[in-house]
Amino acid sequence: MGDAVAAFEKKLCSEEVTQVKDIVEKYAMIPGGLIPALHEAQKILGCLPRWVQEYVAERFELPVSEVNSVISYYSLFSEKPKGEYCIGACKETTCYVKSTKEIVRKIEDYLGIEAGDTNADRKYSIEILRCADACGSGLIIQITDCRC
Ligand code: FES
Repeated sequence: MGDAVAAFEKKLCSEEVTQVKDIVEKYAMIPGGLIPALHEAQKILGCLPRWVQEYVAERFELPVSEVNSVISYYSLFSEKPKGEYCIGACKETTCYVKSTKEIVRKIEDYLGIEAGDTNADRKYSIEILRCADACGSGLIIQITDCRC
C-alpha cells in the first residue's frame, strides 16, 4: 500500500474511505474519468485537500501536479471546505474596472474573511471567479448554493 493510500485512510472514517475508494476505482478505469471522480469525491468530502489529491493521483497513475492543476482550473473544485453559500466575484478586466475590487473588500470586511476563505460558522465563502462571459452585463457577483 502506498503512502498516499495510508494517509488517505487515516484521515477519514471507514464509510468515507469505502465511498471514495469505490468512486476512484470506478473512474480510474474510464478514459476521462478524473473530473467525474473528483466531482463525486468532493460531494462526499466537501473539498479536495492535498492528501485526497495524492490518493487520487496514485490510483489514476498521474502526477499529483496534474490532479492539482485540474482542481485549480475548475472553479467547482475546492481544496478547502466551503460554506453553505458561495459569494463569487469576477475580477477580470471588464468587471475589475467596474469596481469589483471595492465590492469584494466590503464583503470581506462584512464577513471578516478574505476571498478564498469561509467564515467561522461555515455559512459563506468568498470566491474569485473567472470571466463568466457576461462582461457586457456589468459587474458579475453571484451567490450560489455550495452544497450542489
Ligand atoms: S470580465 Fe467579468 S464577466 Fe467577463
